[in-house]
Amino acid sequence: MGSALFRTKKVEQSILDTEEPEHALKKSLSALDLTVFGVGVIIGTGIFVLTGTVAKDNAGPAVALAFVAAGVVCALAALCYAEFASTVPVAGSAYTFSYASLGELPAWIIGWDLVLEFALGTAVVAVGWSGYIRSLLENAGWQLPEALSGRDGAEGFGFDILAAGLVLVLTAVLVLGMKLSARLTSLVVAIKVTVVLVVIVAGAFFIKGANYDPFIPKPQPVEAGGDLQAPLIQLLFGWAPANFGVMGIFTAASVVFFAFIGFDIVATAAEETRNPQRDMPRGILGSLFICTVLYVAVSIVVTGMQHYTRLSVDAPLADAFKATGHPVFAGIISFGAAVGLTTVCMILLLGQTRVFFAMSRDGLLPRFFSHVHPRYKTPHRPTILLGVVIAVVAGFTSLGELAELVNIGTLFAFVVVAVSVTILRRTRPDLHRAFRTPLVPLIPVLSVLASLWLMLNLPAETWTRFAVWMILGFAVYFLYGRSHSRLGRGEETTVGEVASPAGRDAR
Ligand code: ALA
Repeated sequence: MGSALFRTKKVEQSILDTEEPEHALKKSLSALDLTVFGVGVIIGTGIFVLTGTVAKDNAGPAVALAFVAAGVVCALAALCYAEFASTVPVAGSAYTFSYASLGELPAWIIGWDLVLEFALGTAVVAVGWSGYIRSLLENAGWQLPEALSGRDGAEGFGFDILAAGLVLVLTAVLVLGMKLSARLTSLVVAIKVTVVLVVIVAGAFFIKGANYDPFIPKPQPVEAGGDLQAPLIQLLFGWAPANFGVMGIFTAASVVFFAFIGFDIVATAAEETRNPQRDMPRGILGSLFICTVLYVAVSIVVTGMQHYTRLSVDAPLADAFKATGHPVFAGIISFGAAVGLTTVCMILLLGQTRVFFAMSRDGLLPRFFSHVHPRYKTPHRPTILLGVVIAVVAGFTSLGELAELVNIGTLFAFVVVAVSVTILRRTRPDLHRAFRTPLVPLIPVLSVLASLWLMLNLPAETWTRFAVWMILGFAVYFLYGRSHSRLGRGEETTVGEVASPAGRDAR
């Protein structure tokens, strides 16, 4: 049984599976498309919303350093992701990579984990989007009834109709086809990046040096709201919980990490890329670099425009302009943020359906979900199912701790990917790697340590919720996936045939 749990799927088999006519996705994306995709999903709630909260509560102007720290963690992970994505260019991202290297159970764990990351991430961003739209509507004198404005602050019934509606519309766009989504994305990404540049360039004129004093505020003890809300690392080492100071920068980094989520999704589109070997690494590293530079610049400008203690929590970028007496800029920024969050939401949803699709194609989830639509060539079934579920979650959920849960799931995926790169180098040194992670095993080891460090800075409560989700995943695997796995049943594919049982042991 032990070896069954760790049976690995051959890399060649993964690539062959993508050529089954009924289960094949269209190969239409270029490096530029991927970069646009990356930037499209990376810049979102993180920079537009979390910057203010984190500067105010944890780091002060040093939030810029928190972005650098989180960016470094992601860059290390990106170097590992890029090697895997260019070696195993099939849908499913870290899930597929770990199936090829670590084995079926670890792959299942990571797939289940990615479902959490993408589904909750989509819901979080949809709710953030709805907040911006409501604020724009209010500017125009319109007000939605409270019961339809979401959970936050609602008494009794509260359903966020805008967030749920957004998810359903995007689901339809994704069912209609990848190319359409990529085009729509390019337009929205252009608007979003322009707005970010407006913040940086226009905002630079309103910076006051005094606002940077102190740049790293002195540590302040906080009254912990119950032990479970303190970062795990403080509980483990018995440190008194504190905000600000150097440790505050790391707490901030573990939260603003959310702002970087998305570059890993570029890897999930590997199968739909024309030349994955060359374009994947370019797409992943390129989009990550662009975003890091923009984030650091935005946070330096915004904390320079307004003292960190006065930054707003809901719309810090727009409100900093209001505070300096420039409401027109504020309006433009709110509009751009609302438009920009749309793509983030759509691409998270896309990543989510592709992981689900890959798991179903392998038989770990029902095969019903991995049939591609005959006309649109998209995995319409998981897209519709998950779209509806996420719309409901987005409608009934408030933001809060969900973002932290998304972060822990993503960081865990980074750990698995880094470990997998090292293992695959040993077990399959023969594979062609268009992109090789430099300094293996040093970079993967650093990547694991850096990701674990950020995880430890998340609240103990987040760890508990994560554990519950993973235990549920184990139950699904042992009750369904293990016995339905195509690999376990000895079903393999040959070109032109659908799932012919070849009966070979894959190990
Ligand atoms: N990185 C994305 C955001 O900040 C998920 O919204």
